[in-house]
Amino acid sequence: MAKSYDLLIIGAGPGGYTAAIRAAKEGLKTGVIEKEKLGGTCLNRGCISTKALLHASSMFSMMQKCDEFGVSADSIAFDFKKMQQYKKNAVRDYRNEIHGTFEKLGIDLIYGTATIRRGKTVEVKSDKGKDFYQAKHIIIATGAVPRPLSIPGADLDGVWYSDRILKEDKWKFDRLTIIGGGVIGVEMATIFNALCAKVYLVERAPHLLGPMDQEVSEALKEELTRRGIRVYCGANIHKITKEEGLICHISKDGEEILLRSGCVLVAVGRQPYTDGLFGEDVNFQMKDGKLEVDSEFMTSEPEVYAVGDVTADIQLAHVAAAQATYVVEKIAKKVHTIRLSVVPNGMYAKLPVVPNCIYTEPEIATVGLTEEAALACGMKVRCGKYSMGENGRSIISREEGGFIRLIFEAYSNNLVGAQIVCPRATDMISEMATAVAAGLNAGQLMMAMRAHPTYSEGIAGAIEDAMRS
Ligand code: NAI
Repeated sequence: MAKSYDLLIIGAGPGGYTAAIRAAKEGLKTGVIEKEKLGGTCLNRGCISTKALLHASSMFSMMQKCDEFGVSADSIAFDFKKMQQYKKNAVRDYRNEIHGTFEKLGIDLIYGTATIRRGKTVEVKSDKGKDFYQAKHIIIATGAVPRPLSIPGADLDGVWYSDRILKEDKWKFDRLTIIGGGVIGVEMATIFNALCAKVYLVERAPHLLGPMDQEVSEALKEELTRRGIRVYCGANIHKITKEEGLICHISKDGEEILLRSGCVLVAVGRQPYTDGLFGEDVNFQMKDGKLEVDSEFMTSEPEVYAVGDVTADIQLAHVAAAQATYVVEKIAKKVHTIRLSVVPNGMYAKLPVVPNCIYTEPEIATVGLTEEAALACGMKVRCGKYSMGENGRSIISREEGGFIRLIFEAYSNNLVGAQIVCPRATDMISEMATAVAAGLNAGQLMMAMRAHPTYSEGIAGAIEDAMRS
């Protein structure tokens, strides 16, 4: 007889493992099916792995400038194999933490490939054969895979996606061409530039980072260029050929340009992954390549939910985790603790409260609306900007290029959006996300002191600037 669960989760990434941990804490008998490794893309070949490499490469880059701070180090060098080993250790340690939590909470981790059958039965194929499981509720959290680039030469050896590049422990990156100036593209450009590679970054759209506030994306382009990265925005790639390395044939403003490098990274987006997931006896609706869900994350099959990249417009680990928590709270009949957007008192516009963090140098973090988006929904706004060049902590660290930009609704002075470009921006954005979610106004944001010297002092500067306008 099939083993049965209150909740079966397919996929053990941040959506899947967050759902499992919360469900087990609510007393639900929970199983998680995973075909590869616990942790999914985020842990094994995404956020955690990339940030570990960013940490190591930025350390190397800082050491090269250490003389300015009165520190000397002779013959600074890096060992890429060791760097990759450090990254593997960080990934392993994180995975062990999650594994330990699963064991403590009695969550079953089932390795194999899942196919959903009629009546909430799940078939799992592995080297040991075929097993069947039964569940009252199912959550699909199967994530996404890199979107392929459909041009001649895209299948040549050395044209890689981010997961392949993250696995490579031999240094093959004296010259690297990156196709796609989105989040993966700019973070990878930062890593390899810090390791002294010659990096070319090719973006089809007129600006880096797509929907990001234009001032932010221009500031990033300027900084990447200042660091020696060749950025080609508004450029089209036509083909890749191989002759003494890989040659990307691109065109920009009517000019044909050839970029030669040892390796090409393709980072042109990610697409939902549902291969083999649906049996012939079930009927799941898809829309624009994504698994369709209602406002409660339920698919077209009753009591089968989907969270994270397989369904989301916003492909972020913390969004997957938040959606997973929401669904488990619904199944366990608990009050919801999670919101992805809010409409604070006295406001009419929906404010997204999802922080968006990009780990470049300097870091970029945003939440809520940009000025442009606020104006587009008919909102009157006051905007304030603070240049980090005046900030004590930035002067100390010699990283003075960033800024903080805050957007307030003009009548209530409620914070509706923030864009931060400076070191530690990814940590600082939490204060802004809390303020947007809680509908705090400028006066309330000024009530608490910000310690001196911190990058956060710049927030007060941006509030004062907005209130003067
Ligand atoms: P993305 O959607 O962020 O960026 C892809 C970029 O490629 C776009 O700017 C697009 O205009 C460009 N592009 C598409 N086709 C092109 C072509 N033929 N030539 C040149 N440019 C082309 O996707 P990306 O960077 O692959 O990241 C995938 C997902 O992973 C994103 O949704 C992102 O949110 C998530 N992610 C988040 C991170 C974070 O939060 N720090 C880090 C890494 C990934």
